[in-house]
Amino acid sequence: MNQTITHQLNHRAIRRFTDEKVPEAMLETLAQVVNRTATSVGMQSFSVIRVNEPDLRSQIAAIGRQDYIQQIPEFWIFIVDCYRNAMVAREQGYHLGTEGDMDRFFQGWTDACLAAQNLLNAVESFGLGGNFYGSILNDAARLIDILKLPELTMPVVGVGFGYSAQAPMLKPRMSMELKLFDDTYRILENYGETFDDYDRQMETYYDLRQADKPMDSFTKQVVDKLKHPIDKRSDLVKIMQDQGFDLNLEEK
Ligand SMILES: Cc1cc2nc3c(=O)[nH]c(=O)nc-3n(C[C@H](O)[C@H](O)[C@H](O)COP(=O)(O)O)c2cc1C
Repeated sequence: MNQTITHQLNHRAIRRFTDEKVPEAMLETLAQVVNRTATSVGMQSFSVIRVNEPDLRSQIAAIGRQDYIQQIPEFWIFIVDCYRNAMVAREQGYHLGTEGDMDRFFQGWTDACLAAQNLLNAVESFGLGGNFYGSILNDAARLIDILKLPELTMPVVGVGFGYSAQAPMLKPRMSMELKLFDDTYRILENYGETFDDYDRQMETYYDLRQADKPMDSFTKQVVDKLKHPIDKRSDLVKIMQDQGFDLNLEEK
């Protein structure tokens, strides 16, 4: 086992932090790691907004309905950024229909996700902790406004990190046998009993985590989450279009 694997197998979301600031030299290294992340067709179609301003933080915390976002030492928001390359092309006299097409969008989305995970790996390798915040998309239009995001950009995920002030248990995962297939996809014979063991593990995990707040098993949570999609997330495709992305939804 090497250090990288030890840290990766130890991953857990950290949401509470000490007041200690992340040193500048470490931030510089983390930024370099983000920059070194693999990138689709070399286009580097993502950017990062480091949100320091307390007022902006409180507005973002309100969007995510997670008040403590205000107290996280570092909060970096990863965005799809097709604007930069569009400008590079436009300044050479090209205003191309492809600058915000579906393919470009997903290249940027993938780049942003990979860079965000690379950041968290690096954070954890320094012995710090962090977490992802998809909750920033609970009101993406408002976030775009707050961050002054231009056309051809789109928020993807936030990463909050710092020196951990908590030591949560590892959250169990379902067996990799259910996720790793050889050659072709494997459809299970049933999706109930197969999850019995994992359901028990999750119930134990929640009991140990907070005995007075029992939580549903995994399979029940799946139904609950599917039954209650987050309000404004259904607007995301429209917001992407408003940002100038051509999602190719019309029949051509
Ligand atoms: C894309 C993404 C978005 C997430 N968004 C949030 C979020 O908005 N708020 C939050 O508290 N946790 C968020 N999480 C953290 C997950 O809840 C967490 O990773 C999951 O419950 C597993 O727990 P673990 O990371 O401790 O193993 C997010 C994770 C991912 C990958």
